[in-house]
Amino acid sequence: METITQPAEMSAWSEQTRRTGQSIALVPTMGFFHEGHLSLMRFAAARADRLVVSLFVNPIQFAPGEDLERYPRARERDAALAAANGADILFCPEPAAMYPRDFRTTVTVAGISEGLCGRSRPGHFAGVATVLAKLFNLVQPDRAIFGEKDFQQLAVIRTLVRDLNWNIEILGHPIVREPDGLAMSSRNVYLNKDERQAALALPLSLEHARHRVGQGERRPEVLRGEINAILAAAGLRPEYIEFVDELSLQPVALVGEGTVLALAARSGATRLIDNCRFKQLD
Ligand code: PAJ
Repeated sequence: METITQPAEMSAWSEQTRRTGQSIALVPTMGFFHEGHLSLMRFAAARADRLVVSLFVNPIQFAPGEDLERYPRARERDAALAAANGADILFCPEPAAMYPRDFRTTVTVAGISEGLCGRSRPGHFAGVATVLAKLFNLVQPDRAIFGEKDFQQLAVIRTLVRDLNWNIEILGHPIVREPDGLAMSSRNVYLNKDERQAALALPLSLEHARHRVGQGERRPEVLRGEINAILAAAGLRPEYIEFVDELSLQPVALVGEGTVLALAARSGATRLIDNCRFKQLD
């Protein structure tokens, strides 16, 4: 595996690779790899000739007061893990190389960036869309792989690629979980023992909702009340509990095929998200 830090070098590698007819997959990340990231890498490596993993803690997707400075970092360990999981290139630019002082452009995906996580994180998805626009142009991938854990992010990226006519296939990868059900996240390291235990209420409440929907309960307001009670009983502070259409991200009147239940809650100071999609309802 080769490490590239300069955007111009990344471009040159991609030009050269494409000229030889090889396909490129991209897995964008902010590092501090866990099994979720590594699954995306193996999935991507099996679907292209060459795999680029980008590792960039993107400052413009963090709002003031969020965890940019203390976001966990482990560059050497990450490089070894990326190499062991199929990466050919680890692209890790410095912030100043991605955003020089005269950087002026923001890419905004209106509408679907505004609800759910967008409500409490204004500007977050514009930061994500802007860095991905840059990464797509630098890496020129045939396909890019994203986790369904960040379900709204995936919807924003699909819209971005469609609207700006990039010929890039966007693939979603299922949520990778700890053995006890907690969705893996780089931010799970912030949790102390009690907060980690309380966080299990997130996957448990998804399980509860699946069970209740299986029993025939389709009313979002009823299910929301039950989930709220489960989260609150565990000591979590829910930020949103929403039943939305998987494509439009608009709230649904009744749970049906293609409805996504999306949750965000705080355990202590740490903000966690999780979701599940309903299918095969009768
Ligand atoms: P990051 O949080 O590092 O996540 C990188 C990728 O890993 C994303 O596509 C995310 O959805 C996926 N991922 C994280 N945890 C996962 C899990 N438990 N199961 C499956 N996939 C998981 O998301 C970002 O970085 C950034 O916003 C980025 C897209 C890189 C733009 O800066």
